[in-house]
Parts: sequence; structure tokens; C-alpha cells
Amino acid sequence: MTGSALRVTLADAIVWAVETLRDASETPRLDAEVLLAHTLGWSRARVLSRLEEPFTDESLHQFRTLILRRAAREPVAYLVGRKEFYGLEFVVDRRVLVPRPETETLVDAALEWAKHRPAPLVIADIGTGSGCIAVALAVHLPQAHIYAIDLSRDALAVARQNVIRHHVDASVTLLNGDLLAPLPQPVDLLVSNPPYTVLNEVDPGVRMHEPHLALDGGSDGLAVYRRLFAAAPSALRPGGALMLEIGATQARAVVDLARQAFPEAVIRVRQDLAGRDRVVICFSD
Ligand SMILES: C[S@@+](CC[C@H](N)C(=O)[O-])C[C@H]1O[C@@H](n2cnc3c(N)ncnc32)[C@H](O)[C@@H]1O
Repeated sequence: MTGSALRVTLADAIVWAVETLRDASETPRLDAEVLLAHTLGWSRARVLSRLEEPFTDESLHQFRTLILRRAAREPVAYLVGRKEFYGLEFVVDRRVLVPRPETETLVDAALEWAKHRPAPLVIADIGTGSGCIAVALAVHLPQAHIYAIDLSRDALAVARQNVIRHHVDASVTLLNGDLLAPLPQPVDLLVSNPPYTVLNEVDPGVRMHEPHLALDGGSDGLAVYRRLFAAAPSALRPGGALMLEIGATQARAVVDLARQAFPEAVIRVRQDLAGRDRVVICFSD
């Protein structure tokens, strides 16, 4: 997009952006509007009500830079520095996986289980990343204590911002280390959205921009589940539960691993809003 900035309207800029994003995004118009709103510091509604207004030179340059980064498949969430999850806004950047809507299924399952349990619960979120699961649980279960663990110190720095932003620093303890190793005590509920993809099968945009430590589940995608199931039985209190997000095709394999680790447990698979298998749940004795 070139020419005198004074003659370029917001509508012109959106047309250019949609064309530029056509091959890089499944939602070019939405991305363009969100990035335009971010550039101007406006709401999307305000952008849409003022489409005939002209750009300033500076805003036009900023918008163009964001659109070109999006055209290189950088997630919109990194470009605007935030992502909504479970009705809460999270700070995100390239140090953490962008929270996905399907992970809300895991939070739903955990909150339903917690409803029938006497407070105060002790919970661990393994591989907390941005802290989205731990913070959502802490906001909805104010009496619980939550250990949020990650191997990545960089990710924990982002999680810390989100814990503080949502005023749950008294109930969420961030711990650095490998899977369950940093846990100081057995817990009532273990939740995790572990890395579960085969890296070279991941969407190129995701692979290019999101942390490989958050994605890489080994050659069959199951490596981290195997290690979690090896450690989980001794980390759960009697009557505790384990809830793991899975990829849509992994239910059978993860349920088999769960049966080996918890032979007496009731095991369930829960679907996400799109009807795909998304969470494996073990209710231990
Ligand atoms: C799929 S991401 C999930 C992030 C966040 N919980 C969410 O749902 O958006 C997996 C997270 O596990 C962390 N991780 C990977 N291997 C780990 C390990 N061995 N121990 C602890 N955390 C690990 C990664 O750094 C990443 O933050």
C-alpha cells in the first residue's frame, strides 16, 4: 500500500490488508479489523463506524508492518500482545503458546469436578505456559491452591504477569521444573495441556512462531503423556483426578496409557464444542 497517507481511508487499508492476508489466514477480514483497531487504539466497533476516515502516516506505517507480519503467519495474539481465554484477557508473546479455545474444555471439566469436592482443593497445572488454565481455575475456585509448573522460565515470566493481572498471586504458586518434579505435596487434581503434536505435522505458521517446547510430543505425539502417567499416581491424593488435554485423534492411545497407570480408575473422554475428543479424565480411588 503506497501513495499519500492522507488519501488512504481505513476502508482502503482493510481492502489492501484482506488481499495481502488471503493466503496466510483463514480469517483475513477479521484479522485486518483487529489489527487496525489495535493500531489505532480503538475498538473494532469504532473502526467499523469510521471506515471513511483517513489514516495518518504514522498509523499507516504501523498497520502495514503488522499486516506484513501476519502475512508471514505470526499469530494475531502475538501481534496485539493478548488473547482471551475463559472470558479473561491474558498477556501473551512468543515465549508462550497462544491459549486455544478448545483448552476451555479442560477448565470446564475441572470446575465441574471441583463443584462436588470439599474445599480447599490443591491443584497442579503441569506445563502452565501463559498460566491460562491455572489463572482461570484460581479465579473460579478462590479457595483452591494451585501449583503452576513449567520447564520454561521464559513462559513462567509471562504466567507471572497474568497471575498478577488477575489478582490470583496469593493462590497460584509458579514453579520451574520438569513435569511433576517441583511439586511440594500430593494434590487433589492434576491438569495439563502438555505438548502433544508431532512437530513436522504441525501447521507451518504455528511451527514457525510458537515455542517448540510447547508443541513437541516426540515422534508419536505421546512422549509427554507417558512421562506424566509414570509420575501421576504417586502425586495424587486418594480420590484425586487427572485431566489431560489431547489431540483429536489421540483418545484411544491416551486412554490405554491411563488404564495402565490407573488400573482401578474410572476413565472418561470429553469432547470439545466442535465434538472432537479433547480431554481424558481419570478419577482415581
Ligand atoms: C501445549 S503448552 C500449554 C500451555 C498452556 N497450559 C495452555 O494450555 O495454553 C505446553 C507447556 O508445557 C511446557 N512444558 C513442556 N515440557 C515440559 C516439561 N517437561 N515440564 C514442564 N513443562 C513443560 C511448555 O513450556 C509449554 O508451556
